[in-house]
Amino acid sequence: MFDSSLIIALQQARRVVVFTGAGASAESGIPTFRDALTGLWENFDPAQLATPEAYFANPDLVWAWYEWRRQLVTDCQPNAGHVAAASLQDHVDQVAVVTQNVDDLHERAGSSDVVHLHGSLHHPYCSSCSQPHNFSGAVADGAPLVAEPKDGLPPPACTYCDGMIRPGVVWFGESLPQAEWQRAHRLVADCDVLFSIGTSSVVYPAADLPRRAHASGAQVVQINPSETGLEDWVHHNLVGPAGRLLPQLLQAAFPDEPSPAA
Ligand code: OAD
Repeated sequence: MFDSSLIIALQQARRVVVFTGAGASAESGIPTFRDALTGLWENFDPAQLATPEAYFANPDLVWAWYEWRRQLVTDCQPNAGHVAAASLQDHVDQVAVVTQNVDDLHERAGSSDVVHLHGSLHHPYCSSCSQPHNFSGAVADGAPLVAEPKDGLPPPACTYCDGMIRPGVVWFGESLPQAEWQRAHRLVADCDVLFSIGTSSVVYPAADLPRRAHASGAQVVQINPSETGLEDWVHHNLVGPAGRLLPQLLQAAFPDEPSPAA
């Protein structure tokens, strides 16, 4: 089922990067951004929700949308793809997950080294003084659950400076966090195998990472049910859902790995 050169590359790899996008969490029940009909950007306008200008123009709407998404993530579980990515740690010296996702499903599946390029729903901070904000519970500061993404919810106030707390995600027009971006570069330059999983590869600069890995001599493996353009040049293109293919690949490469559920 899998090319023997892929199996050998994985068996011999000492450093693996698992680069993920929204599709990695799709089987957990979290909508992707661009899939037709279900994608978040099909139903919401990024300009209204995912820019600093949108936040300062309508903080209650933007905060509510991100709290709705945080609640959604809190209610979801890691899927078999997240679990398989974490299981790679049992077989390979160094495994790093570099993710565009703002959920915490890789961590909850057991991945110990996760680099978040686009921030995290779980780490909001003050829009004035940048102090991190601690959530007191599953929903912001005991506020009522955001049942609908368009119900307004005022952001909490910073306990240091009384500024408005903002979601801890990277918005359009903002730079990626420097330390994370530099770390991702180093990991990609040094890896033997890079998996590009569940990303449409259209949002830069993150989308450039698989190509950088390729240029550094790594084997690049895409897992995606749809075409992204990467299939034209990656070494191995696995067409299908990550929650099925990644566990099957691990089982093929490392037969002591527990069999994926049928
Ligand atoms: P997209 O929504 O653009 O792409 C999701 C990809 O996942 C598509 O290529 C799908 O075909 C694929 N996919 C769907 N189900 C899958 C499955 N079960 N297994 C594997 N792949 C599957 O999401 P991203 O590429 O992550 O940025 O989007 C990149 C960035 O755009 C996001 O981080 C976000 C967004 O705007 C910010 O918020 C800054």
